[in-house]
Amino acid sequence: VKTDVTIIGGGPAGMLLAHMLDQSGIRSVVIERKTREYVLGRIRAGMLEAGTVDIFRQFGLAERLDRECMIQEKVHYGYEGKDTLVLDLKAHTGRWLTAYGQTALTEELYKEHERAGRPLFDAVQDAQPEGFKSSPVTTFTKEGQSYRVESQYIVGCDGSHGVSRNAIPKDIRKEWTREYPFGWLGVLAEVPPMPQLFYARHSDGFVLASKRTPTLSRYYVQVPTLDTTRDWSDDRFWDAIYTRLPESHHGHVTPGPSIEKSIAPLRSFVSEPMQYGRLFLAGDAAHIVPPTGAKGLNLAVSDVYYLHRALDAAFNQNNQHMLENYGQTALRRVWAAINLSWRLTKLMHVFPGEASFEAKLRDSEFDLLLHNPCMQAAIAHEKVGLKI
Ligand code: FAD
Ligand code: DHB
Repeated sequence: VKTDVTIIGGGPAGMLLAHMLDQSGIRSVVIERKTREYVLGRIRAGMLEAGTVDIFRQFGLAERLDRECMIQEKVHYGYEGKDTLVLDLKAHTGRWLTAYGQTALTEELYKEHERAGRPLFDAVQDAQPEGFKSSPVTTFTKEGQSYRVESQYIVGCDGSHGVSRNAIPKDIRKEWTREYPFGWLGVLAEVPPMPQLFYARHSDGFVLASKRTPTLSRYYVQVPTLDTTRDWSDDRFWDAIYTRLPESHHGHVTPGPSIEKSIAPLRSFVSEPMQYGRLFLAGDAAHIVPPTGAKGLNLAVSDVYYLHRALDAAFNQNNQHMLENYGQTALRRVWAAINLSWRLTKLMHVFPGEASFEAKLRDSEFDLLLHNPCMQAAIAHEKVGLKI
């Protein structure tokens, strides 16, 4: 197979890039390890930045989003049952967050991919990219048959456990990692969500009330790293939700049977560079943020936006400049998101064995935020998203 760009990974980053490239007349082939059904069954992100929604509109992908999304103008941060900071995003920035599931977004990307008749190989094995300094080639097998894709460029959109990042020689890569000693247990339930997007810190741990649609709720609680979903019956989960959310908001909670339950570990991770010869990385393949900032999917979208713009200039104007600077451009936003996600994670979670000095600093941090509109404005701008 011969094409312009080989995209490894059919998650939101890879599928969005394929669509954007198509609009610039650039051909691509997507290679995905899992089946399409598996990819579309994954429950993940829910909150989109204003700039992310703009990009989906700009590329003609927002019809369902505009119909089904829920606008979130405020974010609530509860602190140990005492105070709640109501962060008014709209008042501070003129913009807001949009609740819309990554699952729905990915569904639309797959539908559009099929409608446009673009090539996609799913359920592949042993994808291996190489030849980044000369002629890029990606080999893989599907149903026992071997394939070979030749292209001008390869883009690794294959998430944190993909092959692309590790195809960059080890002595060239530099990695930064911070593992947090807890995970998030997420539950999806067919019940009306709380009207507020509510993050809270409680002495038992963090809790988040989020949403997908007017009849679909998404809740998370902080759990120890070694817990499994078997440790968390629905009853135990809803008990934790009531314990950790301030009593004043209990009336907004509608409990119900879980239709999905999963645990995600929390981690900050960045791998640089995001490019090596004719190989480029985008999304979770290059960086992971803990979900507290709701930044992961948004970063995947901004990476792909920068990369599409750079590939468009390379193919259609014979200008390599933006492509050479891709990593540098993307990493500014990446580190800003790493930074915000780290600060919010520290502020809102219970760290086992935390020193009393750190606890005092944390109390002070929340106090500053609660009482200072300038501090609130700064966080509000970071929450709705820095300029893409
Ligand atoms: P992925 O979605 O991981 O896609 C990578 C794809 O590559 C997968 O389909 C995988 O099967 C495939 N692949 C892997 N290896 C190979 C291989 N060797 N060969 C071929 N294919 C391969 N982000 C937000 O912005 N807002 C939120 O509110 C938010 N909430 C979250 C909540 C949770 C519980 C979690 C876990 C994440 C959340 N995120 C959020 C993060 C967001 O889901 C991810 O950042 C996003 O999925 C990244 O997209 P991606 O396409 O880069 O990677
Ligand atoms: C979700 C929402 C968030 O605001 C966040 O930080 C993480 C996840 C969600 O709805 O899945």
